[in-house]
Amino acid sequence: MRQALVVGNWKMHGSRASVDDLLSDLVQGSRIPGTEVVVCPAYVHLAQVQAACISASISVGAQDCSHLQSGAFTGEVAPLMLSDLGCRWVILGHSERRQYHDESDEIVAAKLSAALDAGLQPIVCVGETREQREAGSAEIVVGAQLQGALTGQTNLETLVVAYEPVWAIGTGLTATPKQAQEMHAFIRTCLQQIAGVDASATRVLYGGSVKVNNAAQLFAQPDIDGALVGGAALIAEDFLTIINAASAP
Ligand code: PGA
Repeated sequence: MRQALVVGNWKMHGSRASVDDLLSDLVQGSRIPGTEVVVCPAYVHLAQVQAACISASISVGAQDCSHLQSGAFTGEVAPLMLSDLGCRWVILGHSERRQYHDESDEIVAAKLSAALDAGLQPIVCVGETREQREAGSAEIVVGAQLQGALTGQTNLETLVVAYEPVWAIGTGLTATPKQAQEMHAFIRTCLQQIAGVDASATRVLYGGSVKVNNAAQLFAQPDIDGALVGGAALIAEDFLTIINAASAP
């Protein structure tokens, strides 16, 4: 039995004041049995969020980390710095990192290895572009991203995979529950073929315009174990509704 997981990716949003406001609503409302909740603020807000969530049932994650452990790498944040802060999770290979920072599967793999060494729980993102879907190559792309990131890794017990079709992120377009379920089932088949991964125990999240009005239908699919939520995670009421939908039997 895989526990439902809902992760809020706050991206490059917020000020100290708005983060406080969002957290006060979330901390009050998020004691929802059955669903694990994670929020991923910008680096500069991690300590503030960590302090506010310490007695709440919300864990904290980063949106990225370096593939290096320390050294003269201006602007980078090492995975050990994150775990030292009390941060438990890290998102890796988000399509915005792949698109705007040229992150290849090799870099994602190196980041994953460094994050696991630092004891972080990784959320590895995969997903195809609109052109790739229209060309019929969505599964080939996603399969290659999984192979590229996961092959040869060890200690993958805490691995979470997020399927985020690039065409659905921030666009208001969502994969239909059927489209999402088909890809999630395919991802689970791929995971079965990767050494060191327990495919039946690994949680696979859906991400891409998850909203209050589509969350329940997505969560009803057998291979969708929760969501990676962007825009709707910045609105406490919406995020709490999505968490509740994930907890429904
Ligand atoms: P969105 O973002 O919910 O705003 O589409 C999801 C994500 O990028 O993780």
